[in-house]
Amino acid sequence: MPEILNATEENIKVAAERLRAGELVAFPTETVYGLGADATNDTAVAKIFEAKGRPSFNPVIVHVNDKIDAEKIVEFNDRAALLASLFWPGPLTLILPRRADAKLSLLTSAGLPSQAVRAPVHPVARALIAALGRSIAAPSANASGSLSPTTPQHVANSLGERAGLILAGGKSAVGLESTVLDLTGKTPVMLRPGGITREDIEMQLGMKIDVEFEAVTDAPKSPGQLLKHYAPRTPLRLKAVDVAPGEALLAFGSIKFMGIKGGGAARDLPAGALMNLSETGDLTTAAANLFSMLHQLDTGNFSGIAVMDIPETGLGIAINDRLKRAAGAQKS
Ligand code: TXA
Ligand code: MG
Repeated sequence: MPEILNATEENIKVAAERLRAGELVAFPTETVYGLGADATNDTAVAKIFEAKGRPSFNPVIVHVNDKIDAEKIVEFNDRAALLASLFWPGPLTLILPRRADAKLSLLTSAGLPSQAVRAPVHPVARALIAALGRSIAAPSANASGSLSPTTPQHVANSLGERAGLILAGGKSAVGLESTVLDLTGKTPVMLRPGGITREDIEMQLGMKIDVEFEAVTDAPKSPGQLLKHYAPRTPLRLKAVDVAPGEALLAFGSIKFMGIKGGGAARDLPAGALMNLSETGDLTTAAANLFSMLHQLDTGNFSGIAVMDIPETGLGIAINDRLKRAAGAQKS
């Protein structure tokens, strides 16, 4: 059984310490319970995906207490500022351009240039964010493909001990996930319906918005899905068993037996051309490193990035899904 603690002042401090230590904490928000991790900690955010058993890395919402904190993470525009002033704290998630200097794991946006942010109104969520003193990355606290939880018992039933500590704060009042609104383009796009309606938003902005609901779901994605994926500029070569001249190597596990075509050992590649997702072959570490290492190698002017085979088990499934999408997106 997972550990369930009532959300007293004392226990909120305990939960914040767990988050600071890189562990997961499930906590109540007014919409649904969230599965939280310190949003600045790559390994902690990777644990979210491991716990949910998501077959791919969906970008997750970063929870803050106000617009001032959100502005350290994303670039606000006039529409975002207006909607935040009207609906925050509350069940509205805004997708905005991620700041280059944002102190955030790249896993929270799954490598994308945009980041989802939300200020919840639930007092326990707010107290937890304040006690941690950082933003909290949190998807709904359910196993992938199942219903969003509105009670601590739902979380326990769906995730068991994978939830980490569960902070119990009663039943979520809204019971529906937040409205997700993408404000990165010319016209705002609602990606998920929720407590704040299309009409609410259109009235306040004084304009029509687009609606593209299929994009946002915990279910496996269909080929026609709208959710964008991170793709490096440098071509990726998957399941590589050697490195070609001019290529960088994104390794996984030991590279003892890996060679360079035409001669030489991969371990002698110049600094900057070799990054290892996890020398010990640990998939959580690999997930934590995936986007930051791809970003780094992508800035290096290599002819390609050779990526070693990653086992198709556990988090490896999500890692391979992202790698395949990143490689596929380059071809189209
Ligand atoms: O009410 C809620 O929003 C709850 C509570 C815990 O805050 N959270 C929640 O998170 O429902 P999650 O991860 O289950 O749903 C967030 C949705 C995902 O389907 C994700 O695809 C979408 O928002 N999303 C997040 N970041 C995005 C981005 N940068 N671009 C497009 N979609 C994004
Ligand atoms: Mg969800």
